[in-house]
Amino acid sequence: MKAILCRRFGPPEDLVLADIDEPQPGPGEVQVAVRAAGVGYVDGLMVQGLYQEKPPLPHVPGSEFAGAVTALGSGVEEWTVGARVMGMASTGAFGEKLIQPAALCVATPDNLDDTEAAGFLLNHATALHGLRDRGGLEAGETLLVLGAAGGVGLAAMAVAKALGARIIAAASSAEKRELALASGAEAAVDYGGEDWRQELRELTAESGLQMVWDPVGGSAAEAAMRSLSWGGRHLVVGFASGTIPKVGLNIPLLKQCQIVGVDWGANRRQNHDYAMAIEREAAAWIAQGRLSPAPVSIRPLAEAATVLRQQLDRRALGKLVLKISDTKN
Ligand SMILES: NC(=O)c1ccc[n+]([C@@H]2O[C@H](COP(=O)([O-])OP(=O)(O)OC[C@H]3O[C@@H](n4cnc5c(N)ncnc54)[C@H](OP(=O)(O)O)[C@@H]3O)[C@@H](O)[C@H]2O)c1
Repeated sequence: MKAILCRRFGPPEDLVLADIDEPQPGPGEVQVAVRAAGVGYVDGLMVQGLYQEKPPLPHVPGSEFAGAVTALGSGVEEWTVGARVMGMASTGAFGEKLIQPAALCVATPDNLDDTEAAGFLLNHATALHGLRDRGGLEAGETLLVLGAAGGVGLAAMAVAKALGARIIAAASSAEKRELALASGAEAAVDYGGEDWRQELRELTAESGLQMVWDPVGGSAAEAAMRSLSWGGRHLVVGFASGTIPKVGLNIPLLKQCQIVGVDWGANRRQNHDYAMAIEREAAAWIAQGRLSPAPVSIRPLAEAATVLRQQLDRRALGKLVLKISDTKN
């Protein structure tokens, strides 16, 4: 089968497109024909060996997949060959076949095509968990989304919209702000500018700012936290800027705000039943039409290195997805 191979940790340009043996399912596992794979910022860190988890070498990168079950390991009863599934694997999504524990697959809703599904589960489950269950976002509250035109930013906007929140997007370019506005933000600010907090103050003069979704960190984090209303919540999601900010604890004291960590991977490892329930709930929201998936940009598998480089260099627009074989729906 064709797969992208990481033979040593290094820049994405070191990845190769190779022909390797198909993996076979063991007990409790399924083999999935991957039709599309989501690409996240984490994938670019992983191939460089810069992420906290370092898969053994060589390996096929990629953790977000959508496709169809092609073979069942012994004891698997919940899936049949041909079932459309999506999920998050530790590695293997940038290849034509992968092996996944049967219990960690989620049925793909009929109204989600495979490219949308590949970019959906990780980011929207993170957003549902973070915004609703960690942050307690309520209808009518105002949410500021940093890095709004990135994968997890767009998903946060989609989920926040479904929860009835008002959304202000922060993004670094006019093109990214346009995408955020087209994806449900009421207003978009350039958070690289000097006076963006003033702009934010004007936009939230009536409503206040109740929550920040922060997958970026760096200097934007403290500025955003200082913009919260009394009693607000700052959700710490990631550090795509490359800088983990250090903020003075006088801010949460004076604002009586909360700094809330959001770690979807840890939930999947430590709270498996809850995590799978959230993933299925996010899928059910799609099936019910309650949630519209964030838009995806589709590229062929052979361009994996270029796509990872774009993302690492802050040039990606929206959620990136690699198309691996023909998709259904
Ligand atoms: N906590 C969790 O469970 C969880 C789940 C998923 C992802 N994450 C984390 O969330 C972060 C974003 O992931 P993603 O997949 O959404 O990435 P992404 O699609 O690349 O989006 C990240 C956004 O961050 C902004 N950014 C600011 N400085 C940047 C820089 N120096 N390089 C690259 N981007 C920069 C960019 O927006 P502007 O150009 O507009 O600033 C970009 O759109 C990552 O740190 C990832 O690890 C966490």
